[in-house]
Formats: sequence, C-alpha cells, structure tokens
Amino acid sequence: MKYHILTWGCQMNEHDSEVLSGMLEEMNYTRTEKLNEADIIILNTCCVRENAEIKVFGRIGQLKHLKHKNPNLIIAVCGCMTQQKGVAEKIAKNFPYVDLVFGTYNLDNFPELLQKAVQSKTTFIEVLEKEEKIIENLPVSRADNLKAWVTIIYGCNNFCSYCIVPYVRGRERSRLPKEIIKEVERLAEKGYKEITLLGQNVNSYGKDLKTEIDFSGLLKELNKINGIERIRFMTSHPKDFSDSLIFTIKECKKICEHIHLPVQAGSNKVLKMMNRHYTKERYIELVEKIRSEIPECSITTDIIVGFPGETEEDFQETLDLVEKVEFDSAFTFVYSKRTGTPAATMPCQVDERIKKNRLERLMDLQNRISKQKNQLLKGKTVEVLVEGYDKSKKGKLFGRTRTNKLVHFDGSKELIGRLVNVKITNPKTWTLDGVINQD
Ligand code: SAH
Ligand code: SF4
Ligand code: F3S
Repeated sequence: MKYHILTWGCQMNEHDSEVLSGMLEEMNYTRTEKLNEADIIILNTCCVRENAEIKVFGRIGQLKHLKHKNPNLIIAVCGCMTQQKGVAEKIAKNFPYVDLVFGTYNLDNFPELLQKAVQSKTTFIEVLEKEEKIIENLPVSRADNLKAWVTIIYGCNNFCSYCIVPYVRGRERSRLPKEIIKEVERLAEKGYKEITLLGQNVNSYGKDLKTEIDFSGLLKELNKINGIERIRFMTSHPKDFSDSLIFTIKECKKICEHIHLPVQAGSNKVLKMMNRHYTKERYIELVEKIRSEIPECSITTDIIVGFPGETEEDFQETLDLVEKVEFDSAFTFVYSKRTGTPAATMPCQVDERIKKNRLERLMDLQNRISKQKNQLLKGKTVEVLVEGYDKSKKGKLFGRTRTNKLVHFDGSKELIGRLVNVKITNPKTWTLDGVINQD
C-alpha cells in the first residue's frame, strides 16, 4: 500500500506532514512520488492567503478522475483550511468523493480517523473546536537526513489583525523542554547535523509552562548536544526579541547568525492597525542592536503591502524602511482578506491593481538590495553545510551558509553532510557560486 502527501503552507505544516508520514509508515504504507500509484492521498492545507485556498480546491477537483480509476483510493484533507467555519462541510458537499476531513488539533488521531473513514459511506468529518494537549512521541518520517524540523511551540496568541493562524492553530502551547531535548538528542544520534526550531512565535516559548525556562534557556540547553552542528529557529516576533536572546545567539557557537524577523510594514499607523505592538523606530533599533552585537548576522523579513487603509505615503514608509534596514532577503505578500479576522471588515480596502503595483515596486527594491548584500561576500570564505548534489546544475554540490544563503560549488558527493569552507566567487541575487577552499 502506498501513500502520497501534498503539503501547502509553512514549515509547521511540512513537519505535520512528516508526522503523518511516520504514522502511515507504521501502518505499513510506503511513500510514492506518483499520485496515480497511491492508495491514499492526503492534502495538508494552508489558508493564510486566499490563493493558497484556491490552489487546494483546484487540486481536490483534479483528484476526481483518480478516484474513478481506483474506487478504493482514500482521499483525506487536513490542515489549517479545514479549521475554518464551514470549510469541512463545503468540501464534503462539493467533493463527495473525499473520504476524510480532519483538523489541526487531532492530527495524532489520524490512524483511528482513517479507520472510521474507510467504514463510512459519506465523507467522514472530525474537526475539533479546541486544541488538545500536546501528544509526544508520535512517529516521524523526515524528508531529510541531515536537517530536521523540531516544533517547540504550537499556536499563536498574537492576533495580528490580518492573520488567520491564531484561529486555526489555537493558543500557544509550549512543549516541555525535556521532550525537546530528548528529541534533539535522538536526532543527533541518528546523524542529523542541523535542527530548525519551529513556532509561529518562538520568542514566546515557555511562557505558558510552569518551569522557569524561556527561549534563550532552551537554546542554551540544545547548544550542548553533541553531534548537532547548527541550530536555527523561526519565526521571531520583534516585540518579544529580548537582549538575552541576542547574547545567547552571540555566545552559543551552534546557533546560526540568521534571524527571520517579520516587520510587515514601515508605517506606524499601519503597524498599529495590524496589532503588531512595535513601531518602525523600535524595529530599527532592534536591528541595530542585533548588528552591533552580531555583525555578520543576516536578517530576513516578511512584508505585506496593501493592508486596509495603507496610503501611498504609508507604502513609501515601507520602502524607506527596507532601504534603511537592508534585509538580506524578504518574503513579500499582497494583503489577502481572511474572513473572521478584524482586518477583513476594516474600511478602505486597497484596490487590487494598486496592491500589485506596490508589490512590484517593493520586490524591485528588495532584489537590488539582496544583490548588493550578496556582492559584499565576493572573495570571502564562508562555512557551508553540504546538503546535496544538484543534478540540474551540472553536478554541483549545494549547501547553506550559517547566514542561510544557498551556495553552489564543485566537489565530490562524499562531502555531503560535512562542513566545508567555500570561497564565494560569484554572488547573485538569490544564490552564491563558490569554490571549495583547499587550505
Ligand atoms: N508567525 C509568523 C508567520 C505567519 S504566516 C509571523 O508572525 O511572522 C507568514 C507570513 O504570511 C506573515 O509573516 C505575513 O507576512 C503573511 N501573512 C499572514 N496573513 C496574511 C494575509 N492575510 N495576507 C497577506 N499576507 C499574510
Ligand atoms: Fe499570524 Fe501574527 Fe501570529 Fe504570526 S504572530 S502567526 S502573523 S497572528
Ligand atoms: Fe498556513 Fe497554517 Fe502555516 S495557515 S502558514 S499552514 S500555520
């Protein structure tokens, strides 16, 4: 029996798919890359922006013919989209050939839900309204054998006014430090070299626990684990980024010099409407503090254009901030109305054409800055963790710098999994070309 999982959305969702894979493999399913070979297809969905949803509905539609060919095929839909009001019922109504719909709070129950779905004649739906307690020790089948994702905190308490995540992922729930440490120790034993700690706001880690530990404390513990060479984390909320965290990154050798620090907008009026709890000035101050303590640190961000009420002047402030901060790279988005969030009903929604135009101008600026920043690396030697062999690039090796930049270089496959020094010869906008340093 074979399975195939399609995943949309963030790394948390990618990691949830690794857990689903783990459970399926315990049920003796094996992974297949081919949809038409699969006995079960799971769609793990995202609803952070409308286009993510449109893609999912399109995809469910495309699966109808596979079900015709193989009536025993099981189709399941899970993830954030299903937690929204009425979506599970809409799927069952419009796509009656879907066997199972389940939400984000009962992922651990998947084997049982699958059983029930097989026995049910109609679409079996189980979407819980409230988050359950964290279930540990679920099986995981990871996509990579060098780098691993480790979720440290589920949910989000921030309620940024545009964002659906708190409604579909529930309140913040931190995993116990001992569980995280145990998981990372096991990963190290298995030969994993790099871990990325995941959470919608990793800086909140521990606030909901009875123990004293905070995010810095957790990082210090993980930094001690032998075998792990690199520690990354995302996402950090600027309002909670403490001085102690800056010093922890500076002190702990394994923690990589890269911070993903979504700014979202450059106008204080818009930031307030977004419910972000910081000003442009405070954000810039934070970046300056990080750079003064960790000069080599790369800083990346997320930016939304066209939030309700954003004027040309507000947008200009975003461009000014981008110019001033000089991000290494940025994910840029057009504001997307999410039903149920406060911003969806705010007045002065911005015209689609204006939003697109702002996005293009922002991307042009950021691309120019990314290229300039990368140019500074020309001739420099950087540490790269060799991740793999890129067939499309004429057999080149690839890997990432500690600052999370992708590097391509010639070398033998034996180097995969090792840390090497690479001299950057040709920096580009999104990637770097280099040669292995022999000395
Ligand atoms: N917890 C993380 C990531 C949340 S989702 C954080 O706080 O940064 C990733 C990004 O999607 C966000 O940073 C934001 O830039 C974008 N995003 C979220 N909701 C959106 C919406 N309604 N429209 C457009 N972009 C959105
Ligand atoms: Fe959404 Fe804000 Fe929470 Fe990030 S911090 S997940 S943008 S509500
Ligand atoms: Fe999307 Fe859910 Fe992640 S809405 S961005 S998959 S938390």
